[in-house]
Amino acid sequence: MFIEKAVVRSVEEIAEGIFLLSAHSPSIASIAKAGQFCNIKVSETDFPLLRRPFSIFNIKGDFLFFVFDTHGLGTKILSAKRKNDTLDILGPLGNGFDLTGDYQTAVIVAGGLGVAPFSFLIRSLQDDKEMVSYLGARTKKKIVNLGLKNVSMATDDGSYGFKGNVVDLLKKETLELSKKKFRIFACGPNPMLKELQSLCIKNNYDCQISIECAMACGFGICQGCPIESYEDKNYLLVCKDGPVFNANAVKL
Ligand SMILES: Cc1cc2nc3c(=O)[nH]c(=O)nc-3n(C[C@H](O)[C@H](O)[C@H](O)COP(=O)(O)OP(=O)(O)OC[C@H]3O[C@@H](n4cnc5c(N)ncnc54)[C@H](O)[C@@H]3O)c2cc1C
Ligand code: FES
Repeated sequence: MFIEKAVVRSVEEIAEGIFLLSAHSPSIASIAKAGQFCNIKVSETDFPLLRRPFSIFNIKGDFLFFVFDTHGLGTKILSAKRKNDTLDILGPLGNGFDLTGDYQTAVIVAGGLGVAPFSFLIRSLQDDKEMVSYLGARTKKKIVNLGLKNVSMATDDGSYGFKGNVVDLLKKETLELSKKKFRIFACGPNPMLKELQSLCIKNNYDCQISIECAMACGFGICQGCPIESYEDKNYLLVCKDGPVFNANAVKL
């Protein structure tokens, strides 16, 4: 991993309160894998002290792309960055998705900004894989489907696509999907991942989930991001052992 002083190239609001930021970060861009993340120091002062973790949304040449929703101070500061500002980026961190193995169709399931790791994942998949995507958002204004392919949409309020959550939408399609060998790649809020996890465990679906949680160091030192393992009741660290886990490996 590197700590890199990255130069911001652009920050663009792409949906209500949601921003796409690109930054020149050649060292991290040269080695990152889909599903990994970076821990970004958003300010040049000591406040806020802690870095904020963001999935690598995409890489083009020497540039990293991040997509983020504005929740609190860190993401507000980030959204106000301008061209040629510098950012202190630590990365790439975490394990990333496992794309190897015997499956024909990659099924992407994203809730809200859970879409963040998938543009890079889609680019990284071999050409012989088919792809379908299921994307859920609270409402039409919050939809970000950048980089996804063959997308079916669900909104909680029914303002676009299927009315309901994205796991219910997926459940309607599983019969059709089951005609081919598929692997689910998912990211989103924990309640969504939990529902998906039960569906996958019950039906023995091959599924990898990318988990978000509060983090500090981002690389296994502070012990601040534990998650219980299903297998041996031990704790794993989301930043170091994850953020991607097999759906049956961790207790959400
Ligand atoms: C591995 C990993 C990858 C991530 N990738 C992305 C990404 O690509 N894009 C992205 O937008 N976010 C991502 N997140 C979440 C992101 O780190 C947080 O949104 C960010 O740290 C919030 O910082 P803040 O200073 O703005 O908010 P804080 O000041 O830390 O929090 C302000 C308020 O917002 C709430 N809040 C914080 N984060 C979230 C959240 N994710 N959802 C809902 N409420 C929240 C807090 O509980 C608090 O009430 C990722 C997290 C992890 C662990
Ligand atoms: S964030 Fe420090 S150990 Fe995971």
